[in-house]
Amino acid sequence: MPMAKLTLDPAFEVGPVERRLFGSFVEHMGRCVYTGVFEPGHPEADADGLRRDVIELTREMGVTAVRYPGGNFVSNYEWEDGVGPVAERPTRLDLAWRQIETNAFGLGEFMAWLREIGAEPVMAVNLGTRGVRAARDLLEYTNYPGGTRWSDLRIKHGMREPYGIKVWCLGNEMDGPWQIGGKTAEEYGRLAFETAKAMRRVDPDIELVACGSSNTRISTYGSWEATVLEHCYDQVDYISAHNYYDAVSGDRASYLASAVEMEQQIKDVIATADHVGAKLRDRKRLKVSFDEWNVWSFTKFGGESGLDWEHAPRLIEEDYDVAGAAVVGSLLITLLNHADRVGIACQAQLANVIAPIRTEPGGPAWRQTIFHPFALTAANARGRVLRAQVTAPSMPTERFGEVPVLTATATIEDDRLAVFAVNRGDQPLPLEIDLHGLPNPTEISHITVADDDTAARNTEHDPRRVEPRALQGATIDGNLLKAVLPPISFNVLKATC
Ligand code: AHR
Repeated sequence: MPMAKLTLDPAFEVGPVERRLFGSFVEHMGRCVYTGVFEPGHPEADADGLRRDVIELTREMGVTAVRYPGGNFVSNYEWEDGVGPVAERPTRLDLAWRQIETNAFGLGEFMAWLREIGAEPVMAVNLGTRGVRAARDLLEYTNYPGGTRWSDLRIKHGMREPYGIKVWCLGNEMDGPWQIGGKTAEEYGRLAFETAKAMRRVDPDIELVACGSSNTRISTYGSWEATVLEHCYDQVDYISAHNYYDAVSGDRASYLASAVEMEQQIKDVIATADHVGAKLRDRKRLKVSFDEWNVWSFTKFGGESGLDWEHAPRLIEEDYDVAGAAVVGSLLITLLNHADRVGIACQAQLANVIAPIRTEPGGPAWRQTIFHPFALTAANARGRVLRAQVTAPSMPTERFGEVPVLTATATIEDDRLAVFAVNRGDQPLPLEIDLHGLPNPTEISHITVADDDTAARNTEHDPRRVEPRALQGATIDGNLLKAVLPPISFNVLKATC
């Protein structure tokens, strides 16, 4: 049987495990907010309408940072509509998703929810229909201590202490023709620079994310980042990357190998940003904020123009299977393997909309298959990421040619080693892990997310059909760890060294 080998050595590390890699995304889209995280009157809702069942699941997932309020939604959002007494908030048309937005949930509710999760906000400002002024006003509202128009309004709204929001996205997908108020790279680069300049004068300690490309298929990919950064390089800390990976029918192997595309995109964006840095003689190096990523059959989505005007419609509520979980696991592995240059990552989205958590209005909340690789990685990836040397048989794919069946990474903290590995192949894969420069391990455990039926899903009526399970059979032989990875599986091997 073909086998794979992984070599690890604590001398060769990528960088620290950045906790912000385990971010998520809450957009006012479909049922992510309304009847997702927020549903006043639900039996599980607290006095503020926050669903406790979703809070519990989000905590269990280990989400560390949450991007909000969009997404395309933010590009025609007026943040002032979502603060202050709920009865006085206006109902508006959201042009991004043709939704009726009641504004019953806004900044204060989001921050209260985040406190329950124990996660950090990644806040986006509207650079579509608005600009410098609305962004600096919002920052004054959230971060300035008091004694000014906007900070005093926050205090009047019951929040004496500033929220102290650190990370801010300068708009969303401004390259996209679908974006309300979309811009050319020149227009956006200038606006991002001026907005950043003003925001830094309100609070010099913030971290700013400039919009990169919406995906790798858009015609301006690469040139967009270069032009934008020529304008705003010295004002920003991150350049964003977005991508969704589609299970195009008939090309399952390429879908399982989606991480190859993410890997290439990360390298492209870093190379482009570093090139601009070199041209500008700027020694600072930007990080990537991969602040929208997930598996999504977007080729089946008919687009927003065909939608009816509705409040909290069922929009792209994808059902995920075991193969989707393996792909999500491989994407997390890729992010960790670039922990030296990817500083933030947000899986999109958290609840109902292409999401690991599903809910029914008035009903239960449950974990989709893709919940599990996220939760296992967030819980076990600790300390430093080690550079993993992989030798594995390959499989043919239409889009990427021959691709190794194994993708893996490892982290170490004190004597706790964790190896994360995806078998993309449809055969069991014997794996040997060679530990160089580490004491011989004394204990090993193996958890897998796999199923004989790789199309298996979790549903409202069978919410635990796919769950992580412990596999027996992993062994220690001197400084070798040995295990067999089930076909199309995400795996965590933990050892004490
Ligand atoms: O997450 C769904 C949508 O995908 C977001 O609103 C947008 O930024 C992206 O195109």
